Amino acid sequence: MGSIQVRTTIPGPKSQELMRRRNAAVARGVYHATPIFVERAEGALLEDVDGNRYIDFAGGIGCQNVGHRAPRVMAAIREQIDAFLHTCFSVTPYAKYVELAEKLNSLTPGKFSKKSILVNSGAEAIENSVKIARCYTHRPALICFEDAFHGRTMLTMSLTSKTHPYKAGFEPFATDIYRVPYAYCYRCSYSMKYPECNVFCAHHLEDTFKRVVAAESVAAVVVEPVLGEGGFVAPPPEFFTVLQEICRRHQILLIADEVQTGFGRTGAMFACERYGLVPDILVSAKSIAGGLPLAAVRGRAEIMDAPDIGGLGGTFGGNPVSCAAGLAAIETLERENLTARAEVLGQRFDARAREWKTHFPLIGDVRGLGAMRAIEMVRSQDRREPAKDETEQVLRYCHEHGLILISSGSYGNVLRVLVPLAVTDEQFEEGLNVFEAGLTSVADSRVEAAPGRA
Ligand SMILES: Cc1ncc(COP(=O)(O)O)c(C=O)c1O
Repeated sequence: MGSIQVRTTIPGPKSQELMRRRNAAVARGVYHATPIFVERAEGALLEDVDGNRYIDFAGGIGCQNVGHRAPRVMAAIREQIDAFLHTCFSVTPYAKYVELAEKLNSLTPGKFSKKSILVNSGAEAIENSVKIARCYTHRPALICFEDAFHGRTMLTMSLTSKTHPYKAGFEPFATDIYRVPYAYCYRCSYSMKYPECNVFCAHHLEDTFKRVVAAESVAAVVVEPVLGEGGFVAPPPEFFTVLQEICRRHQILLIADEVQTGFGRTGAMFACERYGLVPDILVSAKSIAGGLPLAAVRGRAEIMDAPDIGGLGGTFGGNPVSCAAGLAAIETLERENLTARAEVLGQRFDARAREWKTHFPLIGDVRGLGAMRAIEMVRSQDRREPAKDETEQVLRYCHEHGLILISSGSYGNVLRVLVPLAVTDEQFEEGLNVFEAGLTSVADSRVEAAPGRA
């Protein structure tokens, strides 16, 4: 596959026909960021059923850090499917699960003995991390954050912040969950300014223990090192230093949700490393297995061993094909030094986006870590009113011009980049050019629509 190629109006006729059938057959609650049906994918490119080709800045929402159909991953999958597909690790175990657990333990921050379990999805992994934390601490409560996203199951939805579409209508939620502000400096919940605030939001947790929930009732703080669905907010490092100190002081476990930040995305294998954060439990999913469903929970051995035999697991958890793909995906990240590549891509995006910010008043904030980068769109710089419609217009322009781009943020006004780290320099530049053209087109249409214009 070459690069962008737009052959039809987008969506093309075959995608439109499939969307008609999809609407009749699939529940509407399952959302699509684009109206395009995919036929094939390779590296950082996608081709749709109408023969249009796109540069993929979404990577299946951050699952393709090694690129679509990465050669080592494909070879490992082929080898495994020729051996066996499923026996259930809880019936007849197999080596690949153990090898992957060993590898994940060795990559996880912290100079202590670690153990892992493998499950199927990010939400299932977070659920398990909470089960383990409660079992170990014999405490019920959880602290989570504004703008957090942890999944769509009952417990993880309860930990998630954004109301629509994730929570509204699905009440009642799980109990013993307490939400506090994250270090979202652009929209500080305390209306303070960094660095003068001295990360008041993190210190304020001590106050929460006096006024909201007793520290000795709290099993764990569940935190994303960089907000994913919440808008790619990368806190100042002191936020995590203080959070970690407070957790240690009260024997509260720190669970890092690295579902979106993991496997090279932020310029390190895990974002915790960028912050010097050593979580008690680290949760992974998405890019762990090069595009196959797999997730992992690992942490201090004594914590992970708290549940009794049979208390953890599941029929498909740590499926052998996913484990083989996971080992190959990690090997690819290491051999191709994709964490360093993430930093380079992130810096290129940052330089370009800061330039855009100087001439597009629609851009309120440019932020992120490594190759987890975003811009937050606002109607005006001073009032910071979220520009959701304009964000959607940019997305539509990009889709129609060969770039798969997605949004995030509690206000739906953040354009985020989760490009496969295997993207070539040319493809990345081409994608950024479409992104810029999308911003220009929306900025121009706003000028034309301004009052007093003919
Ligand atoms: C930070 C984070 N945690 C958890 C999840 C849930 O993962 P999954 O969709 O695999 O259940 C996501 C998914 O986007 C996520 O970004």
